[in-house]
Amino acid sequence: MSHHYLSFENVSYTYPDGTAALKSISFLINHGEKVAIIGANGAGKSTLIMHTNGLLLPDSGTVNVGNIKITKQTLPLIRQSVGLVFQNADDQLFMPTVYDDVAFGVINMNLPQSEIDRRVTQALNDTNSYHLKDKASYQLSGGQKRNIAIATVLAMEPNILVMDEPTANLDSKSRRNLINLIKSFSHTCIIATHDLDLAWEICPRTIIMANGSIIADGSTRELLTDTNLLNKTELEQPYQARYPINGSV
Ligand SMILES: Nc1ncnc2c1ncn2[C@@H]1O[C@H](COP(=O)(O)OP(=O)(O)OP(=O)(O)O)[C@@H](O)[C@H]1O
Ligand SMILES: [Mg+2]
Repeated sequence: MSHHYLSFENVSYTYPDGTAALKSISFLINHGEKVAIIGANGAGKSTLIMHTNGLLLPDSGTVNVGNIKITKQTLPLIRQSVGLVFQNADDQLFMPTVYDDVAFGVINMNLPQSEIDRRVTQALNDTNSYHLKDKASYQLSGGQKRNIAIATVLAMEPNILVMDEPTANLDSKSRRNLINLIKSFSHTCIIATHDLDLAWEICPRTIIMANGSIIADGSTRELLTDTNLLNKTELEQPYQARYPINGSV
């Protein structure tokens, strides 16, 4: 399943205004891994996430999905493998109805109508959103929009699921539903988040970013109990790391 791994090799990216947002980033994420990307506001998480499916292309260095290098030419192929949930759900929803939004990417995959319907229904059910299918996205609450944005990506059945702040705006029931969904997702999953309890619960591995660089990459249990490291990166230890249940650390 080589197409399920993701590698960054010395990836650097500077925005047109001169902000150096990624500085020689390298890592390899293997098939089936669940990895959290954490770091303070402005650390570079979203910029990194946008490089996983070619929304941004590096100024230097390479991003590979399996043995395919991300370039303008390979984008259609890459986007069949890598499903990306944006930080801002409004960027992902633009069709007249929720149903159309969730169907949009699937329709572009040239699947039969019955398969399109099956996938859309499943993704809407998985995010407890089927009852919203005939609404327009501007009629939805923030958390409902987040769930629909997640459904648009789930419907495409990606090999690599990448999410930028997926629990933002979600109430505790929707957050728990999402956690269970991610737990049951057997492929690769990469989550940029400020929700360190989420990282603690579902990601065995964490990458910590600061000022466009990776400053730690390792076991979530080890990194999120390292108070020196967390203080240095302006992160707060998750509740579950401070108050472990029966020595779960
Ligand atoms: N379109 C842009 N043009 C110029 N600079 C940008 C742009 N988008 C982001 N930046 C800058 O790039 C750096 C990294 O931003 P990025 O959005 O990747 O951070 P982040 O870690 O996702 O932050 P947050 O936790 O707030 O979502 C920041 O300094 C930010 O101001
Ligand atoms: Mg961000």
